[in-house]
Amino acid sequence: MASLKASSGQSALHRTLCAVVRVTALFLALAACLPRCTECAKTSNIVLIVTDDQDVQLGGLTPMKKASALIGDAGVTFSNAFTVTPLCCPSRSSIFTGKYPHNHEVRNNSLSGNCSSPAWQKDSESLAFPVYLSKNGYQTFYGGKYLNQYGKKEAGGVEHVPPGWDQWNALVGNSVYYNYTLSVNGKEEKHGDDYNKDYLTDLILNRSLHFLDDRSPQHPFFIMLSPPAPHSPWTAAPQYQKAFGDVKAPRDGSFNKPGKDKHWLLRQPVNPMPESSVNYLDDAFQKRWQTLLSVDDMVEILVKKLEDLKELNNTYIFYMSDNGYHTGQFSLPIDKRQLYEFDIRVPLMVRGPGIQAKQTLPAPVLNIDLAPTILDIAGVNLTQVNMDGQSFLPQMAPSLRNGTARSFFLVEYTGEGHPSEPACPKLGPGLAHCFPDCTCEDAFNNTYACVRTLTGCNLQYCEFADSEAFVEVYNLTSDPHQLENIVKKVDPTLLQTMNQRLIKLQSCVGSSCRDNSKY
Ligand SMILES: *[C@@H]1O[C@H](CO)[C@@H](O)[C@H](O)[C@H]1NC(C)=O
Ligand SMILES: *[C@@H]1O[C@H](CO)[C@@H](O)[C@H](O)[C@H]1NC(C)=O
Ligand SMILES: *[C@@H]1O[C@H](CO)[C@@H](O)[C@H](O)[C@H]1NC(C)=O
Ligand SMILES: *[C@@H]1O[C@H](CO)[C@@H](O)[C@H](O)[C@H]1NC(C)=O
Ligand SMILES: *[C@@H]1O[C@H](CO)[C@@H](O)[C@H](O)[C@H]1NC(C)=O
Ligand SMILES: *[C@@H]1O[C@H](CO)[C@@H](O)[C@H](O)[C@H]1NC(C)=O
Ligand SMILES: *[C@@H]1O[C@H](CO)[C@@H](O)[C@H](O)[C@H]1NC(C)=O
Ligand SMILES: *[C@@H]1O[C@H](CO)[C@@H](O)[C@H](O)[C@H]1NC(C)=O
Ligand SMILES: *[C@@H]1O[C@H](CO)[C@@H](O)[C@H](O)[C@H]1NC(C)=O
Repeated sequence: MASLKASSGQSALHRTLCAVVRVTALFLALAACLPRCTECAKTSNIVLIVTDDQDVQLGGLTPMKKASALIGDAGVTFSNAFTVTPLCCPSRSSIFTGKYPHNHEVRNNSLSGNCSSPAWQKDSESLAFPVYLSKNGYQTFYGGKYLNQYGKKEAGGVEHVPPGWDQWNALVGNSVYYNYTLSVNGKEEKHGDDYNKDYLTDLILNRSLHFLDDRSPQHPFFIMLSPPAPHSPWTAAPQYQKAFGDVKAPRDGSFNKPGKDKHWLLRQPVNPMPESSVNYLDDAFQKRWQTLLSVDDMVEILVKKLEDLKELNNTYIFYMSDNGYHTGQFSLPIDKRQLYEFDIRVPLMVRGPGIQAKQTLPAPVLNIDLAPTILDIAGVNLTQVNMDGQSFLPQMAPSLRNGTARSFFLVEYTGEGHPSEPACPKLGPGLAHCFPDCTCEDAFNNTYACVRTLTGCNLQYCEFADSEAFVEVYNLTSDPHQLENIVKKVDPTLLQTMNQRLIKLQSCVGSSCRDNSKY
């Protein structure tokens, strides 16, 4: 246990002393130093796996039998993990910076919305958590999808390698499984569709294993793997293309329900859904699970490798997704982008030193908390990095840290939609991701901000930036599937309190995003 405490950093002085002792031991091999050195064992390694669009609410972890056993059962499963914005590029930008979208200013998946834009590269990316890990002596490896516009010509091409990474294997553009281009440390590498050579989930795993073989063992390592699964086009590995043949999307909760008392976009879908939409979403649901089986293998092989290298007991492994997903909820066929639980809740499991096995923790944890938690483990002084999120190491490993969980947080989203998109004339301009029956998944006025409380009362309060200034309020205790908007029933003073909190959170920076008790 003593080594665990030292490994996750106490005072800077203590760390310096440890480093001195370690160096002395290494180079002079002073026998007298050895007892002290067991106290300052090597800083812990960290592995972070971030999947693309994996929900938790609709059973997204069900196919992950091995990952659930090797990470969740060996450590902690968070039952209230959320993204602060349910869309890939803004959410990933929050993961890297530990900031809310209003502070990193990545609004959507386009370059013009700052996804991997020159402004992002200049400001936020240079202060992202890998930079601090690298400064603190970590050897770092990246494999997989990065940000949706990454590697495009207008975003600096494959030559652009973000700071902080020693080994960089990033996908150009959005998730695919075959026929893609990678930036391998700034050089273009093209891939075809031979399963044994090109399947992206397997390829990034294989490269991370090589990285582990080639590393210099004196340094701790950080590995981030970002497989395309379970994002479209849902190309499963050949051996899994027949799996889950009888699985259909769950029919409970808000499946195929009308969004009658909800904001404008949710009042448009055809209800009940046409059979063609139901068949389409069932097929997507099944294929999403198939693609996840390769991620499940990834976790098993990686854990085995860490065990072989005798590093497993000194390594934290985080498993999370960038956002949730829906298949048929409120009659929307497939996508994310909505404020409801299915889109904002994400899976989160962690194992590692100081974390007791088989725990399920209800403390609310956000995607903006990943960066501070990782830096906390690495011994970085968090008061010097000014992130909006907070370390959840105290919740996972109280023997290492003390600290209180937050009681409420912000979810914010800027709707996508182009006047030029060949959407549906009857609905007007500014819609996006429309199905042939004019059911659209997004619109420019699907722009909202919500306060979500969990401690005390389990409530969600959302305001829309649309022509109706629409408000939605849900009591998640009595109505977990958000079937009834209670804005007209609820005590007006409660609405006022929530509105005040929302206003404060929408302009919070750093500690004012965390210090909930003041408002
Ligand atoms: C962290 O940084 C803050 C601000 O620079 C400083 O006041 C504090 O002493 C530091 N904490 C540790 C443990 O080094
Ligand atoms: C993109 O980021 C820059 C600088 O961070 C900011 O000035 C600009 O307003 C952002 N763009 C959008 C659309 O938010
Ligand atoms: C990859 O590209 C080749 C050549 O264009 C094409 O024939 C093949 O169908 C593509 N494979 C996949 C899985 O998309
Ligand atoms: C990954 O490595 C395994 C084991 O060596 C090999 O069978 C497989 O073909 C490799 N896959 C890719 C995409 O590199
Ligand atoms: C980790 O396991 C190795 C053997 O696999 C053992 O030598 C070492 O003491 C263990 N470290 C901790 C921190 O438990
Ligand atoms: C946390 O607080 C408890 C009670 O105040 C104390 O006994 C314990 O040593 C603290 N743990 C850490 C890691 O500081
Ligand atoms: C992304 O945000 C920018 C800036 O607000 C906007 O110009 C652009 O149209 C948005 N992209 C989409 C697809 O909505
Ligand atoms: C949202 O945008 C659509 C398309 O432009 C428009 O028809 C609709 O009235 C808008 N609704 C609200 C509430 O702003
Ligand atoms: C939410 O529902 C629970 C259970 O029915 C109830 O006890 C609580 O008072 C409700 N909260 C609000 C704010 O309506």
